[in-house]
Amino acid sequence: MIISASTDYRAAAQRRLPPFLFHYVDGGAYAEHTLRRNVEDLAGIALRQRVLRDMSELDLQTELFGETLAMPVALAPVGLTGMFARRGEVQAARAAASRGIPFTLSTVSVCPIEEVAPAINRPMWFQLYVLRDRGFMRDALERAQAAGVTTLVFTVDMPVPGARYRDMHSGMSGPNAALRRAGQVLAHPRWAWDVGLRGRPHDLGNISAYRGNPTGLADYIGWLGSNFDPSISWKDLEWIRAFWKGPMIIKGILDADDARDALRFGADGIVVSNHGGRQLDGVLSTARALPAIADAVKGELKILADSGIRSGLDVVRMLALGADAVLLGRAFVYALATHGEAGVANLLDLVAKEMRVAMTLTGARRIADIGPGLLVRAD
Ligand code: GLV
Repeated sequence: MIISASTDYRAAAQRRLPPFLFHYVDGGAYAEHTLRRNVEDLAGIALRQRVLRDMSELDLQTELFGETLAMPVALAPVGLTGMFARRGEVQAARAAASRGIPFTLSTVSVCPIEEVAPAINRPMWFQLYVLRDRGFMRDALERAQAAGVTTLVFTVDMPVPGARYRDMHSGMSGPNAALRRAGQVLAHPRWAWDVGLRGRPHDLGNISAYRGNPTGLADYIGWLGSNFDPSISWKDLEWIRAFWKGPMIIKGILDADDARDALRFGADGIVVSNHGGRQLDGVLSTARALPAIADAVKGELKILADSGIRSGLDVVRMLALGADAVLLGRAFVYALATHGEAGVANLLDLVAKEMRVAMTLTGARRIADIGPGLLVRAD
């Protein structure tokens, strides 16, 4: 298999993974219109080509929350990453650290905080969900702090899980799900040996550590549904802001008014996100939502963006639309599923290479040079 781009990793991941896992990460909510628009709208953003400007010296480094990033990219929190490769969170975190960028551990990871944080030589980011059990949230924050986590990514766009039609069909949920998954595992022996057998234990590591007994994955989607808290409001977040002294990023902002509220609340950053098209289908793609949000809060807090970014070219487009940095989710999971840590490291090298080409041909020598001036109206 020739890997020239992250799209090649997607095709390879589809062959390697049992379908319930591939479709869980690849799919979105409802009829997946927003999932598709995230990619299509971003691809439709036209860059202004500039030439003959001596672009021999490029610098991709950026400063974010007191950290130096080799490029303005971090790995997004992805639930169940440890089901896509053996102890997958550790492998992905190592790859990110080797390429000088942050890894964000999901609340619903397989590997717990205490397994991942010591495996890398740079501070990890941790993503927290609003769960009904505030005791768990407090415990997770304390453990994250003890493990040296610097930056908290607080996800607010999942008061209820989105309707994921693919999951029902694939066996992730739905009738006879366990039986269907077992059949798929038998048909994918490489995954079964590497992850199914040697990647154990398979549970929600952070939640098991809190409860003191394994929280299995058998009904993961059901668990999400019964543990997320739809009553959440800005008021409920105040104790978290008071507790967490480090940088705090609110993830799941798609509207300029919510971005202003995040600023008033004391967030250090936001992630402009529709959860990769996995929550409410029909909302704006992030490429379309981002400019108005940047108009409202750029410079007052850090703007990160995700959803639909599959290449270094897409990273440059998001920065030109107003982001300070981006998160990569699916793109890294496909690479992890097929080639583990080396795959994620190679993906990040591809992203950096593609960014360099885009910067060279748009006349941007530094990340700070990338802004709306790089854009040209397609019509
Ligand atoms: C969890 O965050 C999911 O999108 O499945």
